[in-house]
Amino acid sequence: MPDKPIYVTQPSLAPLEEYVELLKGVWNSGILTHNGPLVQQLEKDLATKLGIQNFVAVTNGTIALQMAIKALELKGEIITTPFTWIATVSAIKWEGCTPVFCDIEPDTFNIDPTKIEELITENTVAIMPVHVFGNPCDVDAIDVIAKKHNLKVIYDAAHAIGSTYKGKSILEFGDISATSLHATKLLNTGEGGGCVTTNKELHEKLKRIRFFGHNEDKDVVEDGCNGKMTEIHAALGLANLKYYDAVLADRKYKYNLYKEKLQSVEGLGFQSLKIGKPNYSYFPVLFRSEQDLLSVDEHLKQNNVYPRRYFWPSVNTYKRILEYERKDVSEDIASRVLCLPLFYKEAVEDVLFIAELIRNTKL
Ligand SMILES: Cc1ncc(COP(=O)(O)O)c(C=O)c1O
Repeated sequence: MPDKPIYVTQPSLAPLEEYVELLKGVWNSGILTHNGPLVQQLEKDLATKLGIQNFVAVTNGTIALQMAIKALELKGEIITTPFTWIATVSAIKWEGCTPVFCDIEPDTFNIDPTKIEELITENTVAIMPVHVFGNPCDVDAIDVIAKKHNLKVIYDAAHAIGSTYKGKSILEFGDISATSLHATKLLNTGEGGGCVTTNKELHEKLKRIRFFGHNEDKDVVEDGCNGKMTEIHAALGLANLKYYDAVLADRKYKYNLYKEKLQSVEGLGFQSLKIGKPNYSYFPVLFRSEQDLLSVDEHLKQNNVYPRRYFWPSVNTYKRILEYERKDVSEDIASRVLCLPLFYKEAVEDVLFIAELIRNTKL
């Protein structure tokens, strides 16, 4: 048994000295925020690394979603997935829109494009799918529906930095993608996030919204917010960005190792990766029943290993904040999915140990 608990994730962090070196520059300049040089550098370097046109760095992924809704001036119903983190839905509600849940595909765990059209009403203004666990959605099918019904598409790409489709970053699909740089993500700034769009006007508008709605003449021309990332967070992002390729390769290696060791176990299923390339940032396992999941969860905890039921419960079941409507597939998957520990500092022996514990659990 490991002497220290193994949690589902740990942040990937650059060596402290490299972060401190960047902080010295902040102390010297005295610039802590307001689109400072490190934020600008992070936006530029990250765009280059991902091969995208631009990145608008903000305080977190939730505000990135809200800013995307604001920038597209959406008012009405937004079709989204219930198999997500509550932030997808709270962002829609905070912007005065109404979430409408579309069920998911049982294999990819992403929104089911064949079920979107039946939910479209005269009040529908947009679709907000999530690239669940970094697994790209069927962006072509969603694009066809959006064009046919004149709807906007915002991707919740909180998990998806590093995922690609047709050789291109998944962040450049849809009208706007909102991503997260939270501590648990492949690349992190502690708390942080960003908006990505290939539309130049929207890009400029997002920058204004991030800065209280000010334009360059200091006139207020939008309903803005304070979405500015600080230099302290950007410094962490820049330090961590140097290790981005290593972190991605490491997660892919451990993902494949788990898969190799677990795929012959009867009663276990895995997320189908059908579209593009994922970033391997989570390792979800699908059990035959919730009871099997609970048995494995218990066995792992007894051995100092703490996986996470993620996403659970299905968001449509939060009855206190949403009018309940049953979503069979999402509720079923949410009851049977468990994410195993997967992070940069995790020892390979620990991956093997966890896989062995699962193989030895009586299901
Ligand atoms: C699917 C999804 N959307 C949005 C968010 C919100 O991101 P943040 O925590 O950076 O606000 C998260 C957070 O993990 C998430 O998992």
